[in-house]
Amino acid sequence: MKPITALSVASEVYPLIKTGGLADVTGALPGALAAHQVTLLTLIPGYPAVLKAIDKAEPVHHFADLLGGPARLLAARKGELQLLVLDAPHLYDRPGNPYIGPDGNDWPDNAQRFAALARVGAELGQGLLPGFVPELIHAHDWQAGLTAAYLRYSDRPGPATVFTVHNLAFQGQFPHELLPVLGLPPNSFTMDGVEYYGAIGFLKAGLQLSDRITTVSPSYALEIQAQDAGMGLDGLLRQRSHHLSGILNGIDEAVWDPATDTRIPAPYSTRKLHARALNKAALREHFGLRSETDRLVLGVISRLSWQKGLDMLLETIPVLLSEGIQLALLGTGDAELETAFRQVAQSHPGQIGVAIGYDENLAHLIQAGADALLVPSRFEPCGLTQLCALRYGTVPVVARVGGLSDSIIDANEMALAAGVATGVQFAPVTADRLAAALVRAHALYCDRPVWKTLQRNGMRADVSWRRPAEHYAQLYRALLNARNPHVAM
Ligand code: ADP
Ligand code: GLC
Repeated sequence: MKPITALSVASEVYPLIKTGGLADVTGALPGALAAHQVTLLTLIPGYPAVLKAIDKAEPVHHFADLLGGPARLLAARKGELQLLVLDAPHLYDRPGNPYIGPDGNDWPDNAQRFAALARVGAELGQGLLPGFVPELIHAHDWQAGLTAAYLRYSDRPGPATVFTVHNLAFQGQFPHELLPVLGLPPNSFTMDGVEYYGAIGFLKAGLQLSDRITTVSPSYALEIQAQDAGMGLDGLLRQRSHHLSGILNGIDEAVWDPATDTRIPAPYSTRKLHARALNKAALREHFGLRSETDRLVLGVISRLSWQKGLDMLLETIPVLLSEGIQLALLGTGDAELETAFRQVAQSHPGQIGVAIGYDENLAHLIQAGADALLVPSRFEPCGLTQLCALRYGTVPVVARVGGLSDSIIDANEMALAAGVATGVQFAPVTADRLAAALVRAHALYCDRPVWKTLQRNGMRADVSWRRPAEHYAQLYRALLNARNPHVAM
């Protein structure tokens, strides 16, 4: 196998900066690909959190003017991750969230901020650093979408390009007047270029102009080619369907391992499932839930947004209460949902516990202590919390969409009889079906041997990066072979 040198371009990477699953994926993929002779470096913006977290940064390039100010490229490491950090204070030296300012709105110059990232990605692909010339660039989501555009509209040769869309809902659209500001030529502003409904579409550009498109589950890859889930891009995706595939994410098994997890009071394995009781007790204490032994504790770890369907959970609270199910919810996001969940917790102390915020330690405790984990998303490209739940013996209750339908085997009669069920799925995604799924999950919970089997099946499922990494490595090699048939990869 010939080694491959590649560059990942992303706006977040765990453990440096994370707002969602994207960071988990970009953080884990380089390590998983190393086993396939792929060296994947990562280009990431130098937000304050990133600059603070990196070890031994060495300047490797200076830009006199990168979209409005001077910038440097730093070569750095974080653990096993090999990073190129774009230190551009005029774009990234700001507190808080990478995308949103303190007023709750997108940073007004997000077009420049992420065009700069893409532009430097493209330049690296064209040999900016003689010591590191990637043969392939793997760009993620709208923030890196212009990478393929800068390459396409340049006269210099460039690397192969793969673009992964993690969520079609975030499209990065900006006024067309910015075209010269971003350094894009007028001829890029066409339907088969960066133009999207009269604006500049960063996500659209990535989907249109990259050699290959992937998304994060096979089901989502199909769903987005239909009008319902295509969010305006289904036509383009249908047109490019030969170059579009879905690769289900994995999770980082070192971060999510109930046997070695230092963030939970009682680590455990399949053989020591009874130790979960201690975690359940700690979880209940944290959320002020009553310690009635037989109650099912339902966990939720989520962004609070329309996508995640948690407004439907609010509608099913009466069912939850009548079933005697306890809720432990950790989430942050839409102000209205935050307020609504705070209110139900206040109205039902001891049975409903809500923590508003982002808290990784608590996320681990929920995975280790809850009996079931709910993910009622209206759409879900992949979803990672249900994969962590499998590994922690927390039975997932999920909407049958996208990666949720690809990763959980519903406990229907046939699956139970075959001994392969790992969770509960429901469809269509409505409050009624969600309520029915909760009742079904509760009935399964009351049948302890069956529940234990669901837990053990889940814990045995391979949710690692092994298979996904194999798929990505195959895709990279096939693409490089197609571009250069005389050099077998
Ligand atoms: P998305 O990226 O759409 O938000 P995913 O399920 O792919 O959803 O990934 C979410 C990731 O963020 C998971 O690793 C999950 O544990 C984590 N997460 C989500 N919300 C919180 C929170 N409030 N506190 C801690 N971790 C969270
Ligand atoms: C996005 C999607 C989520 C996916 C994650 C990582 O945030 O919403 O479903 O798991 O990206 O690919």
